[in-house]
Amino acid sequence: VLQLTLAVIKPDAVAHPLILETLHEKILENNFIIVRRKDLIWKKENSEMFYAEHSGRFFYQRLVEFMSSGPMRAYVLARDDAIHHWREMMGPTKVFKARHTAPDTIRGQFGLTDTRNTTHGSDSVESAHTEINFFFPDFCIGRWMEEE
Ligand code: CMP
Repeated sequence: VLQLTLAVIKPDAVAHPLILETLHEKILENNFIIVRRKDLIWKKENSEMFYAEHSGRFFYQRLVEFMSSGPMRAYVLARDDAIHHWREMMGPTKVFKARHTAPDTIRGQFGLTDTRNTTHGSDSVESAHTEINFFFPDFCIGRWMEEE
């Protein structure tokens, strides 16, 4: 059964056309259906809203600045076990751990710092729905599920 997730290619990766292309290829090679795709630039407020749960963390300001520093690409992806599979492909959040324990993952290969870590992926069905709605307010998840 198909599951949806939100995948975001962050400004550090979008800034490098070859990395962006590589990540797009990886999505296709891993049998995801690209349900929606959008290139966008966030205002600081969008960034603050999306990452509100992290407000108060020491990295919040730099995260907010970074995520509104340039173009991003967001995808709604579908596959069996999409949420888990995309997170496995991304690898650990922290760049040291990613490079040393999971060098073949996206963050292991392309992550720059703990903040500038190339990609985001939803971590649960609930957050996938919230995050898909945040990026694609016109996309009706319920209707898509029925049609599939
Ligand atoms: P993401 O998966 O988008 O979810 C929250 C983001 O906060 C994370 O990726 C990183 O970009 C950032 N982040 C998480 N932990 C740290 C940390 N320890 N130091 C700096 N940035 C972090």
